[in-house]
Amino acid sequence: MRSLFFLASLGLVAAENGLDGWLRYAPLPCSHQCQSKLPASIVVLNATETSPVYVAGAEIQNGLNRIYGSHAKISQNQCKTSSSAVVVGTVEQYRKACGSSNDIPELEEDGFWLNTEGQKIRILGSTERGALYGAFEYLSMLAQGNFSAVSYATNPSAPIRWVNQWDNMDGRIERGYGGPSIFFRNGAIVDDLTRVKQYARLLASIRINAVVVNNVNANATLLTPENLKGLGRIADVFRPYGIKVGISLNFASPKDLGGLNTFDPLDPSVVSWWSNITQQLYQNVPDMAGYLVKANSEGQPGPQEYNRTLAEGANLFAKALQPYGGIVMFRAFVYNQLNESNWKEDRANAAVDFFKELDGEFDENVVVQIKYGPIDFQVREPASPLFANLFNTSTAIELQVTQEYLGQQSHLVYLPPLWKTILDSDLRIDGKHSLVRDVYTGKHFKRKLGGSAAVVNVGTNTTWLGSHLSMSNLYAYGRLAWNPADDAQDMLQDWIRLTFGLDRQVLNTITKMSMQSWPAYEGYSGNLGIQTLTDILYTHYGPNPASQDNNGWGQWTRADHTGIGMDRTVKNGTGFSGQYPAEVAALYENIDTTPEDLLLWFHHVDYTHRLHSGKTVIQHFYDAHYTGAATAQTFPTQWQSLKGKIDDERFNHVLRRLDYQAGHSIIWRDAINTFYYNLSGIPDTAKRVDHHPWRIEAESMKLDGYKTYTVSPFEVSSGSVAIVTASNSTVGSATTRINFASGTYDLAVNYYDFYGGQSQWQVYLNDKKIGEWVGNSEDVYSHTPSIYLDGHSAIRVTFRGVKVKKGDMLKIVGKPDGVEPAPLDYVSFLPDGVVD
Ligand SMILES: *[C@@H]1O[C@H](CO)[C@@H](O)[C@H](O)[C@H]1NC(C)=O
Ligand SMILES: *[C@@H]1O[C@H](CO)[C@@H](O)[C@H](O)[C@H]1NC(C)=O
Ligand SMILES: *[C@@H]1O[C@H](CO)[C@@H](O)[C@H](O)[C@H]1NC(C)=O
Ligand SMILES: *[C@@H]1O[C@H](CO)[C@@H](O)[C@H](O)[C@H]1NC(C)=O
Ligand SMILES: *[C@@H]1O[C@H](CO)[C@@H](O)[C@H](O)[C@H]1NC(C)=O
Ligand SMILES: *[C@@H]1O[C@H](CO)[C@@H](O)[C@H](O)[C@H]1NC(C)=O
Ligand SMILES: *[C@@H]1O[C@H](CO)[C@@H](O)[C@H](O)[C@H]1NC(C)=O
Ligand SMILES: *[C@@H]1O[C@H](CO)[C@@H](O)[C@H](O)[C@H]1NC(C)=O
Ligand SMILES: *[C@@H]1O[C@H](CO)[C@@H](O)[C@H](O)[C@H]1NC(C)=O
Ligand SMILES: *[C@@H]1O[C@H](CO)[C@@H](O)[C@H](O)[C@H]1NC(C)=O
Ligand SMILES: *[C@@H]1O[C@H](CO)[C@@H](O)[C@H](O)[C@H]1NC(C)=O
Repeated sequence: MRSLFFLASLGLVAAENGLDGWLRYAPLPCSHQCQSKLPASIVVLNATETSPVYVAGAEIQNGLNRIYGSHAKISQNQCKTSSSAVVVGTVEQYRKACGSSNDIPELEEDGFWLNTEGQKIRILGSTERGALYGAFEYLSMLAQGNFSAVSYATNPSAPIRWVNQWDNMDGRIERGYGGPSIFFRNGAIVDDLTRVKQYARLLASIRINAVVVNNVNANATLLTPENLKGLGRIADVFRPYGIKVGISLNFASPKDLGGLNTFDPLDPSVVSWWSNITQQLYQNVPDMAGYLVKANSEGQPGPQEYNRTLAEGANLFAKALQPYGGIVMFRAFVYNQLNESNWKEDRANAAVDFFKELDGEFDENVVVQIKYGPIDFQVREPASPLFANLFNTSTAIELQVTQEYLGQQSHLVYLPPLWKTILDSDLRIDGKHSLVRDVYTGKHFKRKLGGSAAVVNVGTNTTWLGSHLSMSNLYAYGRLAWNPADDAQDMLQDWIRLTFGLDRQVLNTITKMSMQSWPAYEGYSGNLGIQTLTDILYTHYGPNPASQDNNGWGQWTRADHTGIGMDRTVKNGTGFSGQYPAEVAALYENIDTTPEDLLLWFHHVDYTHRLHSGKTVIQHFYDAHYTGAATAQTFPTQWQSLKGKIDDERFNHVLRRLDYQAGHSIIWRDAINTFYYNLSGIPDTAKRVDHHPWRIEAESMKLDGYKTYTVSPFEVSSGSVAIVTASNSTVGSATTRINFASGTYDLAVNYYDFYGGQSQWQVYLNDKKIGEWVGNSEDVYSHTPSIYLDGHSAIRVTFRGVKVKKGDMLKIVGKPDGVEPAPLDYVSFLPDGVVD
């Protein structure tokens, strides 16, 4: 009966909201052979319900039941069972309960050994946390239908495997795209921590061992007595999952919260204030992981205000934490506003400039947390040279799961291929093999501390990150924190099987889309190392290349009429290339040996500079933008081929985003190409840029109740002009005769959808309504909404298979709402296969 039920249930793809992430334990058929491999019981070697080993047992029981419908009983410490069993615990607990065993290999801290070879499956950790990791590994095999007999040990590459959340006390999350905080609301810790527990489970399954719960731009009110109790509650929820809690600190807390007249790190009253607070924290969170500190960065207070060094600032916390075994993660993201008129100034130099001279001055429990590149989570950067400049300081790499500059979860971008370019870079320290991943894990300099942190920013949305497909980035981050040598595609495929099932076509399609996604995004955003070219002054989302320059932020491109790129050479530029060890410095110093995907990062060249391909830089920009956007056009169709193989809820959620991305990639493509065409005056040899044969501009239509509007920046509007309703209570219409040949077209309408109103649009063909939509993207997609007509709010809707006769009348009616004046940019009549 049961197997019949399970076979039948396979056909039914039940609606899923994403809450279980990759831990769905979806039902699988169980053959006779599979039945024989399912353990009859689960032996947990710690009966305390809050212990990770107990949690591991419960998780295995739940998984076996949900995947294979089996009802394994949990028994405690009864090692000597005659029937088949899975035993989970620490090596020490195992030796006590089950007697000695010679076949268990030596394990490092948090490592585990998994042996499924005999009747008795053994999952043994060096710590309880390790045992829990082993249980999740076993479940991952079962959920992928993998019953291989295995026996292996695995150990973490590094002790620091943290995630950071940029949650504010009021519940908003800085650069969060999955809804409000699961931790905070209205200045306090939420009462219901159900979602925190679910997050803990996901994080434990990818072997994360600590979470910093609040924003690095920290608010001192986290340290009120009430909130310290709240932190204690959060830690109680994470603890059974082997995860410790850490917090971000505001350097000025002694003054802002404590009422002292200083926050000088060497002032005795400040020192004792922090030691008092730290003591109170450990009373509430006895196993607190430590502190994360952003100081003297982007307006945050820090030790430099008192002429103290960053090391003196870090050591203040290190000394307060030392008695409790806590550590300080001190961010290297420190830089000043700069003057672009000075050819030699460079924000990329800042980290080494600030930190190199402090090497050796940090206390033993300080770890310098270094963003992967020298600027800020761009679509492509070289590895931060700081990794090659700290010999006597522990380091960690900072990655970003939340896609701040990479599509904010409204675009599919699978990040590990990008991360791997950094992790696998060889810095040639002292002329020797020195991969970045061997530096921050501590292996290269033989340091005990080290590892990784990723800014994740999950929210209360059931998708966690705002999009189902983005969860591959979180999953893979955990895998890389454990083993940075893991392969990007292998990790992805485990995630796909766990998230969407074992179907071959599902596996192949999502693999293909995901592996294409970062190259596509780089193609239609910023190429050749020029950075993402998003709007750095506002939401970091849509295109706005001009925002990079003419300000003090230092994310410059130095683009002018003749050339583009930052001269970061030693011989004539900012000297940045000289921050790398000699061999790498020489590589980057020379334009001929600089990898072309970083050409404009290191060199300022004319637009007509020829690449190895023979193409000019400007033509490469044009072509890459067309290729990248063309790839994004295939995502919805690739996904649609999976209809019926994925539950409708997730299928439709993803499809909607991929459709949106396809449209927004065209906005990116045209904005960047138009911008550089305008600046350089050099036309596209393929005559595509600013040449749109299938478009009708809204401003060229007959307008009634609509008026023209000049869009800024100009390049995010076709022809730099759009239309908006004459007032916020006027219904507008735009009418035009269609002069294209009779036939069937996809009708694309480009408009702007911003925050603070839900306009309504209707499309008529000869007075027959053929389509309508509402401007509600702020509720549907995950990226930061905008309140302007710009590259963030620009969006496309497509009506497929519209039959048109030459001479037909097209009318679009726009009804404004609130501050949103039903803006329209253009329509495109697209014959089959045309993207315009
Ligand atoms: C069982 O787990 C509890 C809670 O984590 C812990 O305090 C205790 O030491 C563990 N017992 C053994 C025998 O490891
Ligand atoms: C099953 O899992 C083991 C352990 O992770 C792995 O080595 C093996 O390749 C997997 N087998 C298949 C067929 O996926
Ligand atoms: C997901 O988050 C978005 C943005 O906060 C929100 O508009 C949407 O309603 C949420 N959806 C769910 C299912 O929670
Ligand atoms: C810090 O939190 C308090 C209490 O929630 C709030 O009133 C204050 O505005 C916050 N400060 C900042 C800078 O966000
Ligand atoms: C620590 O701070 C608390 C609360 O501000 C205060 O009551 C207590 O006296 C302080 N303890 C010491 C040793 O300064
Ligand atoms: C820091 O040093 C500068 C230059 O030596 C001096 O002008 C300033 O007053 C000092 N600031 C403090 C807070 O000591
Ligand atoms: C920026 O540098 C230029 C050239 O060195 C100089 O003329 C100008 O005064 C500087 N501007 C500021 C605000 O320092
Ligand atoms: C760094 O550590 C090495 C080896 O421990 C030592 O020889 C050297 O003096 C240290 N350098 C600094 C600047 O502390
Ligand atoms: C050297 O830098 C100057 C700007 O200071 C720039 O105008 C010039 O083109 C550069 N020369 C070379 C050979 O790159
Ligand atoms: C660039 O834009 C400006 C302002 O819109 C315009 O005057 C100029 O003609 C454009 N140049 C090219 C080459 O399109
Ligand atoms: C229309 O715009 C006016 C002026 O900006 C504003 O006061 C009014 O609230 C708006 N009406 C709506 C419905 O938003």
